[in-house]
Amino acid sequence: MKTQHYIPIAKPLITENEKRRVMDVLDSGQLVAGAKVEEFEQAFAGYIGAKAAVATSSGTTALQVALEALGIGRGDVVVTTPFTFVATSNAILHAGARPVFVDVDPRTYNLDAQAVEDAVKRERARAILCVHLYGLPADLEQLAEVARKFHVLLIEDCAQAHGAQYDGRKVGTFGDAAIFSFYPSKNITTGEGGMIVASDEAVERRARLLVNVGQNGTGDYVYEVIGYNYRMTDLAAALGLGQLERLDEYNAQRRVHAARLTLGLGRLPWLMTPVEPPRCLHVYNQYTVRVPEHRDRFVRHLNSNGVGSRVYYPHLVPHSPAYRQLGFGGTYPIAETLAKEVVSLPVHPALHEDDLTRITDTVVQFLRDRG
Ligand SMILES: Cc1ncc(COP(=O)(O)O)c(C=O)c1O
Repeated sequence: MKTQHYIPIAKPLITENEKRRVMDVLDSGQLVAGAKVEEFEQAFAGYIGAKAAVATSSGTTALQVALEALGIGRGDVVVTTPFTFVATSNAILHAGARPVFVDVDPRTYNLDAQAVEDAVKRERARAILCVHLYGLPADLEQLAEVARKFHVLLIEDCAQAHGAQYDGRKVGTFGDAAIFSFYPSKNITTGEGGMIVASDEAVERRARLLVNVGQNGTGDYVYEVIGYNYRMTDLAAALGLGQLERLDEYNAQRRVHAARLTLGLGRLPWLMTPVEPPRCLHVYNQYTVRVPEHRDRFVRHLNSNGVGSRVYYPHLVPHSPAYRQLGFGGTYPIAETLAKEVVSLPVHPALHEDDLTRITDTVVQFLRDRG
């Protein structure tokens, strides 16, 4: 019998050209803080339609710096989602501020704008930190309206949403600041890496100082703020430049794969496929389905048939031990249901037609065997 290869949940695609670009940096001897980082920042800003961008060592450090550069700190409340990667709200705590978690929308899994508005009013919040989960834009019109009405900042966590659009405009350009991650599971990668985009030049300048130990670009040991070393390397930036050129193509492939999966799975009675609301362009960092029961068995079935899957995320952030110790908790009925039911299936651009067939066949087979 022919053995079938394992289909991974994520697989970064690195071209020969990208390898050569990284080798060129190695050969140049200028491994950090050289021209490549600046070039990548400019190219990335140009891609999303922002004036400028600041490269960082990760999405996590980008978030921390973005909040600090916006002046968010002790005594401030930031309203955010409990259904995300922990870095989102960790950054709020690292800034000395307090996250207030509110429930999500049952169709999009992103922040419920009405719940955000209620929390902003009740808690006299300073900012909203939204996440475009799995590559689907949050309800940016409503969130921007709440931010405007109550004079609070809007920050976008676009770690999973490079190139996603709302009303034809790229995410990352709606908020006072936005961040991206280039971790290998993201739509483009630099290994580790991140990017900050800010609409205000003063915020961008402060972010640039914070990332580079508080000194401006001249490296003359004059420190304007108490900063960090959160810089991106030129090696990472060289890879990022190559990846960025392919981002639209990769996103288009993700969308084709998602459509193919939905064609095979969309009409199954037992499973819910992802939605793409009318004004949104989803870039499917993850293709996440909901299974109302037997999730563990479903995941085991996928795995034993060579189909990788992952649960993003099995627990809500405020319910994790680290947050419980700080007194967080609360109930979020929709997010809690999602945490019990979601499973992400492979959708990345490295998949082939027969992989997609195998993924849908394996899911359908589970349904057939279930009864
Ligand atoms: C929503 C979200 N925010 C922030 C991050 C942090 O990015 P990084 O892993 O690059 O630090 C991630 C990445 O996993 C993420 O998915």
